Amino acid sequence: MAEFSIETFGAVERWTINGEARRNALSRAMVAELAQHVARVSGADRTVRAVVLTGAGSKAFCAGADLKERAGMSDGEVRVFLDALRTTFRAVELSDCAFIAFINGAAFGGGTELALSCDLRVMDEAAEMGLTEVKLGIIPGGGGTQRLPRLIGKGAAKDLILTGRRVGAEEAARLGLVNRVGDIDDAMHVAKNIFENAPLAVGLAKHAIDDGAHLDLDSALALEQRYYQRTLGTEDRLEGLKAFAEKRPPVFKGK
Ligand code: COA
Repeated sequence: MAEFSIETFGAVERWTINGEARRNALSRAMVAELAQHVARVSGADRTVRAVVLTGAGSKAFCAGADLKERAGMSDGEVRVFLDALRTTFRAVELSDCAFIAFINGAAFGGGTELALSCDLRVMDEAAEMGLTEVKLGIIPGGGGTQRLPRLIGKGAAKDLILTGRRVGAEEAARLGLVNRVGDIDDAMHVAKNIFENAPLAVGLAKHAIDDGAHLDLDSALALEQRYYQRTLGTEDRLEGLKAFAEKRPPVFKGK
């Protein structure tokens, strides 16, 4: 069985992790298939402009690493698995496509790290998130110690990672760990708001934020200028101006 169910809604795809019985845990097969889908939507044709990533059922978004599979893995195999996990999560970040995690249920360990690699997060009011690795004698290995402090600050990240505690939706929203609390329709609505915009501009804006975040301000502003320049020669920029003058919605082509 495929590891993901893929549904298409115009220029938005919804990817549902197909592993309810194991609470959508990250198996080797699941990570390999995720990498293929990310590569597919990150290709040159740009037909998919936003992806909503969620888990099957209502219990879990993703319960982290597949601990049953992990129990039978050698240290070397764990290293290979973590390399694949890091590369795949990074590919989500580097993609021009916008990724929205809909956290429909528990997201622990790698599940929270998967959500952190997405651009935006919408969380069900009953869901819980947490980087619980220290409770298992390990540390986050899918980017959690680096992405969480970049998102919510060092102090709050240490609170969550060193205690390994789980947070509900209200606290997650307060900390800035998720953008909003809502349901799948809210997540799809966010995706729709993104895909209506000029796709090259959305991709460049995403990378300007990500790539500039850790530069000094002058370097970051120069980077923004370089990315802005890349929008100037595009058909979509001219279409945006024309549509404004003609008082109609723009029709963007991603060119
Ligand atoms: N890897 C593999 N299987 C997992 C799993 C994981 N990370 N998490 C849950 N499962 C399996 C359980 O072993 C169980 O399988 P079984 O039916 O063969 O016994 C099944 O999923 C249901 O688990 P259960 O705990 O009964 O479901 P729940 O809905 O009550 O709770 C969770 C769901 C996610 C809250 C709970 O399973 C949990 O805390 N899992 C561990 C999370 C974790 O520590 N992740 C790793 C962080 S590094």
